[in-house]
Amino acid sequence: MALMSACLMTLVPVSTAVAGGFEMEPANNDISNQASLQRGAKYYMNYCLGCHSLEHVRYQRLSDDLGIPEDQFLEMLAFTGDDLGDMVKIGMPADQAEDWFGGVAPPDLTLVARSRGTDWIYNFLRSFYVDGETLTGTNNKVLENTAMPHVLWSLQGLQKATYEEDADGNEVFAGFETVREGRLSPREYDRVARDITNFLDYVGEPIRFERQRMGVWVLAFIGVFIFFAWLLKREYWRDIK
Ligand code: HEC
Repeated sequence: MALMSACLMTLVPVSTAVAGGFEMEPANNDISNQASLQRGAKYYMNYCLGCHSLEHVRYQRLSDDLGIPEDQFLEMLAFTGDDLGDMVKIGMPADQAEDWFGGVAPPDLTLVARSRGTDWIYNFLRSFYVDGETLTGTNNKVLENTAMPHVLWSLQGLQKATYEEDADGNEVFAGFETVREGRLSPREYDRVARDITNFLDYVGEPIRFERQRMGVWVLAFIGVFIFFAWLLKREYWRDIK
């Protein structure tokens, strides 16, 4: 009995240590939500494109797929001087960018949703926190010591990480605490993070988007076909009876 409770005692701290650490929340994004994709594209152009290209995507494609009128799109792009036929690339040369960010060039994000996963991106965008020891003044719970600055801070505000001691006396992450309010409420900011994640999910596999749209037509076709087949069957059976 004593042995059994000793075993349990050693198990308990392990589980609290896991529960006390940073936990990801599901992104719950939906690439069939066009309004969300449109917002995500807009945020991306405004807040991310300065550093991150989408090398395999053309603006024209985004405009067509996301249903953003061309003139609106050109307005969004006015400051980059790009044309709709261009690939989504950034203005700064990669080697210079590398110098600016302490040896880490901002990567192309075309495939990041596939390599990291959508939950990762969503939580990455939500978990920047103030840290005086980094170059950028912020750190990140998902990508520790990231070279990326918290570019959305004016929307989210600034938060600090709080810690507590677990049963073993180890410091574990306990949660975030707002130190400066942003323009958006936490819920609104989560939606921004979800919209951007959604946009990157779509960008990683635009073909899936097409498949989904094709799927609707295929189903509609099958529906119509079944209807006519049923009419035909009814016709035949009338003669037989
Ligand atoms: C000022 C430049 C800059 C801007 C603007 C910027 N980033 Fe970054 N980003 C970086 C750098 C530098 C890295 C590399 C970080 C590292 O590896 O530590 C990075 C890394 C990332 C990564 C991780 C990639 C990976 O797989 O390691 C994601 C995702 C990302 N950024 C998303 C975004 C999004 C979304 C936005 C817009 C809301 C954005 N970034 C705006 C500089 C920037």
